[in-house]
Amino acid sequence: MPTVLITGGCGYIGSHTAIELMKVGKLDVISIDNHHNSSPEAIDRIEAIAGKRMKNYAIDACDRAAVQEVFEAHPDIVGVIHFAAYKAVGESVEKPLEYYHNNFESLVNMLAACEANGVENFIFSSSCTVYGDIDKLPVTEETPTTEAASPYGNTKLVGERIIQDFIKSTDKVKAIALRYFNPVGADESGLNGEDPINAPNNLVPFITRVASGLLPQLTVFGGDYPTRDGTCIRDYIHVTDISIAHINALDYLLDGKNSSNYERLNLGSGNGVSVLEAINAFEEVSGVKLNYVIGDRRPGDVTQIYSDSSLAKEKLGWVAGRGISEMMASAWKWQLNLNESRAAQEA
Ligand code: WQD
Repeated sequence: MPTVLITGGCGYIGSHTAIELMKVGKLDVISIDNHHNSSPEAIDRIEAIAGKRMKNYAIDACDRAAVQEVFEAHPDIVGVIHFAAYKAVGESVEKPLEYYHNNFESLVNMLAACEANGVENFIFSSSCTVYGDIDKLPVTEETPTTEAASPYGNTKLVGERIIQDFIKSTDKVKAIALRYFNPVGADESGLNGEDPINAPNNLVPFITRVASGLLPQLTVFGGDYPTRDGTCIRDYIHVTDISIAHINALDYLLDGKNSSNYERLNLGSGNGVSVLEAINAFEEVSGVKLNYVIGDRRPGDVTQIYSDSSLAKEKLGWVAGRGISEMMASAWKWQLNLNESRAAQEA
């Protein structure tokens, strides 16, 4: 059966994409994930939801020989979805060389393996951080990319250029870079969600951990921005909508509908939501009053960003269907289930 190889298949977006691919059922799904920031438990969660057990190779995508062995063991691979990367913005500022080595070495390896093994279709997990801090909103794919605000953002910006240069050098591979805005939420079942090994930097897992008592208080990073309520505005998008976009993008390439061999697409809802609005949405769906304070701005934060994703709709027939309330409700359901299962494990 034709197979898709997901790198980072046990991670947040990778595991949700595996679930959606298995629900469609047209492709076998295998993964490369060394659990640097994911748990093998994700394989059980995927099986509990989708009814299939994903084969994961717990190898480092930077290990070219090990990657080649995976391709040789699976001659039916027709596409690669490359999620695996270090992605903590703050950590990337402290450890830039680790980020550049890991994120570039793994990307180069996967591209080289595709070309060496006749795999024509490559989907790259990129990010809206490539746009930096811009004034003209919403952001389209033609909005100029600028110097990223962090080494993490640079690994996405330069990663796209690595792919672009590679695609120009070969007629054996075609690629799409998907520029996510802010992926949040969890599978509707409540059985899979964000479960980072390291402490969360992102807003929504921080909210759900404060609300469930795992953390004492949320600090809103800045209340004096030039926005409608003084807090930063982001384009939050449900992780399941993001996952479905990857399936649409892979089909787009497999069906030969691509208008060029390298394309970039924004994946956002088009709705800007402030931090306080996100908190209010959470409080409404959870019934929990969140303990938060307004604190200092976080270095590197952009004031506001939200997307124009009409090109993804035109090319992939994709729109983000799940709103902020559903995102928060799914994140909360997952956090409660996770806390319960962790408590049972410790009992
Ligand atoms: C969102 C808003 C914070 C935590 C980053 C990456 C992006 C993607 C998502 C990988 C900001 C505020 C947060 C907190 C807060 N990563 N906040 N208190 O920085 O927009 O995007 O993560 O795919 O590429 O750049 O996401 O969730 O960290 O922050 O007030 O404790 O929430 O200031 O305004 P961000 P975030």
